[in-house]
Amino acid sequence: MTNKVTKAIFPVAGLGTRFLPATKSIPKEIMTLVDRPLIQYAIDEAREAGITEFIFVTARGKSALEDYFDRAPELEAALRLAKKQAQLDELRRTDMDSGAIAYIRQRDPKGLGHAVWCARRLVGDEPFAVILPDDVIAGQTGCLRQMVDAYAETGGNMVAAMKVPPAQISSYGVLAVKSDMGALLPASGMVEKPRAEDAPSDFAAIGRYILRPEVMRTLDTAQAGSGGEIQLTDAIAAQIRDHDNVFGYRFKGQRFDCGSKAGFLQATVAFGLAREDLRDEFGAYLSSLNAASHAAE
Ligand code: G1P
Repeated sequence: MTNKVTKAIFPVAGLGTRFLPATKSIPKEIMTLVDRPLIQYAIDEAREAGITEFIFVTARGKSALEDYFDRAPELEAALRLAKKQAQLDELRRTDMDSGAIAYIRQRDPKGLGHAVWCARRLVGDEPFAVILPDDVIAGQTGCLRQMVDAYAETGGNMVAAMKVPPAQISSYGVLAVKSDMGALLPASGMVEKPRAEDAPSDFAAIGRYILRPEVMRTLDTAQAGSGGEIQLTDAIAAQIRDHDNVFGYRFKGQRFDCGSKAGFLQATVAFGLAREDLRDEFGAYLSSLNAASHAAE
C-alpha cells in the first residue's frame, strides 16, 4: 500500500451552535478570519501538503459551502472589466477543479468518528488525512505538510498533538505516550475527553490526522463512546491496541481554537497583525488600546 496521502476528509456537518445567531444562516466554516473563511485556510493547508481530493462531510443547511467552492462567472466578469487583477487572483484560489471535491451528507449528528466513516467509499483502501477546520494552525510550513512528510518516513497513524494546561485537557482527545522523542510521540493509548485527574498525559489531539484504511474498518462496527457519540479517538485507540502503530506528532506552529469565541478573536488579531496591508493601522490601534488600559490602572 502506498504511503502517499492524496485524500483529505473535512468534517463540516456540525451545527456551530457556539456561534449563534451567526450560524443560523451561515455555516461556521464560512466565518472569516480577516477576509478568508475558515475553510479556505484548511484547503490551502491541504493543498500545500499534496492533497488532490477533498471530501467534505456536510449536513443540511450547509449548501453555502458548496457555492463557495464553485465558480463565480458574473463576479469574475465584473472584476475583469474593472481590471481588478488582484481580486481576480484571490477569487481563483477558491476555485476547485471539477472532480477534485466531493460532498457526502452525514444524515444524523452521530459524532466525529461517524462523520469520517461516511466518507469510507471515497477513501477506499488508502491512507487519508482528516482536517478539522475549527483548528487553525499558523506556521512557516503547514501542519499537514509536516505530518505527511513524517508519515512518508514512519507509515503509522498520526495525530497532531500539543501540550495543553491541565484545566483544558478534558476538552480533548488525550494521548498516552510511551516516550517523548521530539516530534514523534509513540502512543500507548488514547482517550476522548477524560476528566483532568484521569488524563494519561497533557498531550491533546489537535484536528489533523493521517489515518490508515484499517481505521475505517474499525469504524464499521464502532459503538457510541464519550458524549454518546461515535468517536474517532476510540477507533484510533483500537489501532494502538491491535497494531501498535499510532504516533502523536508535535507540530511546529501556533494553533488557534476557532471553535471557541475567544480563540476565534485571538486568531483574528494574530492574522490581522500578520497581514502586510493591515499591520500598521491595526497594530497602532492595538497599541493605543494597551496604552489606554495602562493609563486607566
Ligand atoms: C474533536 C476530537 C478531539 C480533539 C479535538 C481537537 O473534539 O473529538 O479528540 O481533541 O476535536 O480540536 P471536538 O472539539 O469536536 O469536541
